[in-house]
Amino acid sequence: MDEQQHATACARIIDTYRGGYFNDRAWLREAFGSVSRAHFVPDQVWWPQRGEDGLYPLIDRTLDPERWLDAVYSARTPLITQIEDGAVTPADGATASNAFTSSISCAAVVVQMLHHLDPQPGENVLEIGTGTGYNAALLAHRVGARHLTTMEIDPATADRARRALHARGVPSPTIAVTDGESGYAARAPYDRLISTACVQQIPPAWLEQMRPGGTILTPVATPFGDDALALLTTDGHGHASGRLVAAVSFMRLRSQREPRPWRDLGWPRLPDYELTAGPDGQSVRQRSACAPRETS
Ligand SMILES: C[S@@+](CC[C@H](N)C(=O)[O-])C[C@H]1O[C@@H](n2cnc3c(N)ncnc32)[C@H](O)[C@@H]1O
Repeated sequence: MDEQQHATACARIIDTYRGGYFNDRAWLREAFGSVSRAHFVPDQVWWPQRGEDGLYPLIDRTLDPERWLDAVYSARTPLITQIEDGAVTPADGATASNAFTSSISCAAVVVQMLHHLDPQPGENVLEIGTGTGYNAALLAHRVGARHLTTMEIDPATADRARRALHARGVPSPTIAVTDGESGYAARAPYDRLISTACVQQIPPAWLEQMRPGGTILTPVATPFGDDALALLTTDGHGHASGRLVAAVSFMRLRSQREPRPWRDLGWPRLPDYELTAGPDGQSVRQRSACAPRETS
């Protein structure tokens, strides 16, 4: 199969997922079909599932081009592009280290996130976590490159993304090589902000740099094992609220890697929930604020 056939097959798989992320987003289907994902993926990437030897395999485009292209268009599997902030390199081959620090998110999650973000042409958009530049290219395709700012904390990763974006022969977005936790005030206010790195706490700078009625989409760490994709509407005065729309799994924003107590981050504790079970199934609900609490 050539790349176009892979892209079509991958889009068909994504179409089978509940949520129908391409439905009522014709621009997204068109962008997915016309922006080459392969163009942005490094020639050597790690597969994020251990092989029989217990190591994460390195997939090398030169040695096995078909396997590499299959991996690029695997709907459900991200590809790891950096480990331990670059301390483990492709020259090390397969690795036992699972300290993944940069990746290209799997195609299904990229599409799911852009569906929820729903950027409109000409809107001012901020992306946190440039990574390979693939998501930035899709965003630029939609809003126009001059309306997009993308931030990457890792200089080598940003440099590679810049080259990949420039090589497409279309205008490139603004790439800021600095800590995205501070946002990018120089081009605020933003209509939409998307983070492709997970936060424990929504950075105040993101809230402050949004327009009233703007959209923030970001993975947020939760006490439940998965991260949650938060879709928030901003009031333009430093506040935002909204829903947790999906369970996802993302690498942490570098500046928020150190775990903090869930209670300090606004999450309820397990004793704040009650479980009911019966022949019809079970349900878990948050207890009302006035219900008495077990203390043990
Ligand atoms: C899942 S990857 C991004 C995938 C990317 N959007 C793509 O299309 O390939 C997350 C990226 O966030 C970057 N990152 C982590 N912490 C950051 C921070 N504080 N500011 C900016 N970028 C950060 C990482 O270096 C990594 O490249």
